[in-house]
Amino acid sequence: MCGIVGYIGTRQAYPILIKGLHRLEYRGYDSAGISLINESGDLLVYKAKGKVSALKASTEGCDTHGTIGIAHTRWATHGEPNQANAHPHYSQSHMLALVHNGIIENYKSLRAELEHHGMIFCSDTDTEVLVQLVEYMQTTHQCDTYTAVHLALKNVVGAYAIAVLDKRNPGQLIAARKGSPLIIGVGKDNETCPAGESEFFIGSDATPIIEFTDKVIYLKDEEVVMINRHGKCAITNLDSVSQTPQLCTLQLSLDQIEKGGFDHFMLKEIFEQPSAIRTCIRGRVNTQEHRVLLSGIQDHCAQFKSAKRIIICACGTSWHSALIGKYFIEEATQIPVEVEYASEFRYRNPALSPSDIVVAVSQSGETADTLAAIQLAKEHGCFVYGISNVIGASIPRASDSGTYLHVGPEIGVASTKAFTGQVITLIMFGLAIAQERKTLPTELFNQLIDDLALIPDKMQWVLDHTGDISQLAKIFTYCHNFIYLGRGYNYPVALEGALKLKEISYIHAEGYPAAEMKHGPIALVDEEMPVVVIAPKRGMYDKIVSNIQEIKSRKGRILSIVTEGDVTVKEMSDFCIEVPDTRDSYAPLLTVIPLQLLSYHIAIAKGRNVDQPRNLAKSVTVE
Ligand code: F6R
Repeated sequence: MCGIVGYIGTRQAYPILIKGLHRLEYRGYDSAGISLINESGDLLVYKAKGKVSALKASTEGCDTHGTIGIAHTRWATHGEPNQANAHPHYSQSHMLALVHNGIIENYKSLRAELEHHGMIFCSDTDTEVLVQLVEYMQTTHQCDTYTAVHLALKNVVGAYAIAVLDKRNPGQLIAARKGSPLIIGVGKDNETCPAGESEFFIGSDATPIIEFTDKVIYLKDEEVVMINRHGKCAITNLDSVSQTPQLCTLQLSLDQIEKGGFDHFMLKEIFEQPSAIRTCIRGRVNTQEHRVLLSGIQDHCAQFKSAKRIIICACGTSWHSALIGKYFIEEATQIPVEVEYASEFRYRNPALSPSDIVVAVSQSGETADTLAAIQLAKEHGCFVYGISNVIGASIPRASDSGTYLHVGPEIGVASTKAFTGQVITLIMFGLAIAQERKTLPTELFNQLIDDLALIPDKMQWVLDHTGDISQLAKIFTYCHNFIYLGRGYNYPVALEGALKLKEISYIHAEGYPAAEMKHGPIALVDEEMPVVVIAPKRGMYDKIVSNIQEIKSRKGRILSIVTEGDVTVKEMSDFCIEVPDTRDSYAPLLTVIPLQLLSYHIAIAKGRNVDQPRNLAKSVTVE
């Protein structure tokens, strides 16, 4: 939630910051703002309600000069999305400007205290409390801004990534983090350039930075950094003890974060799935030796051999992939697997023991609830395994071991390639444990490996045959409700299909296990109701055929996803999309693709902004 970008150096900051905000817009787009210190030493703040384009339009003709600046794109938590609540926020004296991602939980008591000391607030945000608190500390302790930031943050409960500009010190930028991500980009030529010509970038993630440098420092929790024009990058903890920065090289390229000829990131990411999944399994699924190589498991073999239970914590789409993972891991390893909504798990008092393995599944690796769930698991001594797409994100860093998806950056807010990446990673996870525990007959294990390696080509087949379902989508554009049905491995696909439709087209949709219909939801079915049935040939095919008959006799309109060559379900359906045959447990990797495309095309037909659906943001770093 919320994106932060910052720059200090010799170039004009404004274009760098605006471009950075565009790249971070997937994190929130309720309002945007920018702060610069111009050549005359004025601390300028410009803010606008709405997207970054609105901010850009509102600054036309304004003074946007300056070689230092911070900027923000907001996903509102405290205070409605209007101009006053947009970041950056000034301190009372207008000497400081601050941007923030996260939530200050004790902001009410801090605000009351500051108001008691005469400070006047201009917004409803928790963020304004931070900037006022820094100023208050500065005044009462007669200290510099860097020290005041430390003092202020020691009084704060909650999560933050912040960046601060100080009008009196236009040569330095201060930033800090706890619980929300922040990366520092170190200018390519910093080591060789003369003093006064070095540059630094800051970003909530690497996307605003990668165009300029691949050298980064991941700020750790409760670290405060001061960077200046002379190449200085001082990092301390909240007690002002100096920390040693670790310089890392980004594994990201610019073309990975651009649309590459597609109209939307979501469509690009749907079509990237065959190559993304190929990369995900490369070097991990070995068809020559029939082995799965996941170092996160092999390096902790004893832990996985003795595990009594696996608990998977996740949210949203990641929770759906976790459910598929549960079915497969239990089948392959005979270890009981539970799937928990991280947001519920973290506030329960779950019975956990050190023989439990807790798996966190998160595309962003930053979801606050999932992060809190693994912190709880660690307190109980559980071994934590992180499955994430974003390298260096908080969840993989907080885990004992784990696996990256390696499906490339996912920018569209609706998750697509990360879902299939998570499913296949959980399948590899199950196979790797089965390999260690020898819970599968060799012949079956080898077949599972061979079939897995065929999935990218089969995904390509789906895309080649159903790539354009825009005509079909138009038929459904005016429907107000949808039902999605599946059984077994395809029940979570029904949930995922319904979620995709809801989030980008704003059409109400529900996913059910098909057999549950008769226990209530079938009352909803009439000739107006489209029912999407995921009915591949294997698994509980005969059972789902009966479920379709029940819908048909209530005049529901059936759109089915079937195995290539299927006749029975096809004849019962009003519309039908085929996918290639694969084993039951791998079917979700194929059946989900037509559902992703269907929701994309319905949303387009309805004129929705598919990459930035209303009220949503890509990375949910607030609870
Ligand atoms: C839906 C979607 C969300 C995320 C959820 C968890 O398309 O993207 O439901 O799956 O917010 O996010 P991660 O996986 O980053 O933890």
